[in-house]
Amino acid sequence: MKFFIDTASLEQIKEANDLGILDGVTTNPSLMAKEGISGKEDVLKHYVDICNIVDGDVSAEVIATDFEGMVREGEELAALHKQIVVKIPMIKDGVKALRYFSDKGIKTNCTLIFSPGQALLAAKAGATYVSPFIGRLDDVSTNGVDLIAQIVHIYENYGYPTQVLAASIRHTMHIIQCAEVGAHVATCPLSSILGLLKHPLTDIGLEKFLADHKKSQKTPVAG
Ligand code: G3P
Repeated sequence: MKFFIDTASLEQIKEANDLGILDGVTTNPSLMAKEGISGKEDVLKHYVDICNIVDGDVSAEVIATDFEGMVREGEELAALHKQIVVKIPMIKDGVKALRYFSDKGIKTNCTLIFSPGQALLAAKAGATYVSPFIGRLDDVSTNGVDLIAQIVHIYENYGYPTQVLAASIRHTMHIIQCAEVGAHVATCPLSSILGLLKHPLTDIGLEKFLADHKKSQKTPVAG
């Protein structure tokens, strides 16, 4: 499973990339706003800055909701850097835009996926990735990971090359469950990625190893 980080924070992207486990980045307008990035020039520059940190796909979302606007914005985003993936919302004009970009060989990420039917349409339209939002489904008492499993199964039935990119991940168990059901990618907050490496028995075990090593260094050699 590929690991993407779901943030527009350059510091967090660097920290995850330095771990050597990062395959890409996803952003959205809310995450850009959280970092205080606004104004077209600054937004475009920020995407390039992200591409220069990580060697992998970087999703950049269009703001337009009409076909012509999405095409215009998407082409501008795609021209910024070869790693840019144009993120398109799952709406009617978005499906048309997915087909347009797919025919032009431009990678896309279809976002705001909440049902298997939406994921099927996005795959038919040639999306590179679909982003089902599992945490937001859990928030409304619907099992988000079940949706990931359903979409993986449907894509396998027909050999669709579209990759299932599990999004709206809130904690480490989401990551494990996505891996269990065969998600191709999980895009996670840094806290969830770092959460994976924690276990109290690791800390206790390391403390003992180091204490035993220290003791052995003080023991005088016999004879
Ligand atoms: O990638 C989509 C993600 O950013 C949404 O996450 O936590 O706002 O539901 P969240």
